[in-house]
Amino acid sequence: MLHWQAVAVKELGTKQSIVADQVHVWWWPEDLQPFAATRRLRTDVILRTLLARYLPLEPAALRFARETRGRPYLLHDAAPDFNLSDTRGGCVIAVAGSGRVGIDIERCDRAPPVVRLADRWFAADEARALRGMDPESARHAFLRMWTAKEASCKATGTGIFGRLAEWRFAIDAHIPTPIALPPEAGSVGRWRFHRFVPAATHTVALACQDLTANPQGFVVCP
Ligand SMILES: CC(C)(COP(=O)(O)OP(=O)(O)OC[C@H]1O[C@@H](n2cnc3c(N)ncnc32)[C@H](O)[C@@H]1OP(=O)(O)O)[C@@H](O)C(=O)NCCC(=O)NCCS
Repeated sequence: MLHWQAVAVKELGTKQSIVADQVHVWWWPEDLQPFAATRRLRTDVILRTLLARYLPLEPAALRFARETRGRPYLLHDAAPDFNLSDTRGGCVIAVAGSGRVGIDIERCDRAPPVVRLADRWFAADEARALRGMDPESARHAFLRMWTAKEASCKATGTGIFGRLAEWRFAIDAHIPTPIALPPEAGSVGRWRFHRFVPAATHTVALACQDLTANPQGFVVCP
């Protein structure tokens, strides 16, 4: 269970350090987020505000680039790795002093077409197992699996296309428990997975490559 430390919006400018093997997870509720014309601009402000804490730079001075499949990273020496996920209700950002992180958030009330999506994106036996559950258990299992798979794809940066079926997790596990990984992920021993509930309405999966320390949580508050 992650302990969330409250950080007031006005304290966000304070410098923050992160060392190798540390992972920080930030939960930024929607009602405290900066106003911006588009979601893209809003997440840009949030990322700059938080990541500037880890570098001796002003938020506007941060420079970003993207890997070939769209994974963003900081173009500064010794910059931490990071990843973000955004949904109605808030966004989560993972920051790592070494290794690579991927994070995914979903609303717990989401009711996707579980069987259709699992048939299309998941491994055949995962889809079969979901079909055998009652609808509400299948919905919860699907959201757990989806967030675990997407967080993992975001850590490696491959994107989800063609990869969701290769990241296999135990269907009934709350904390993502890997069964099989795609070749680019390397050995399973390099990976740690976590599950957070930053608000009762949301579930979050975090995938960490080459990071063994337990994550620390920070929640932005008024
Ligand atoms: C990773 C991905 C599935 C996330 O999409 P999502 O669930 O809509 O969005 P989330 O809120 O969880 O995360 C979005 C953030 O992830 C990050 N991101 C984008 N592509 C990423 C990638 N390949 N790896 C890791 N992180 C990525 C970005 O910071 C993005 O924020 P932005 O849209 O403001 O730039 C998607 O961006 C992606 O994979 N793109 C690559 C192409 C692909 O495979 N598409 C699927 C085809 S069906």
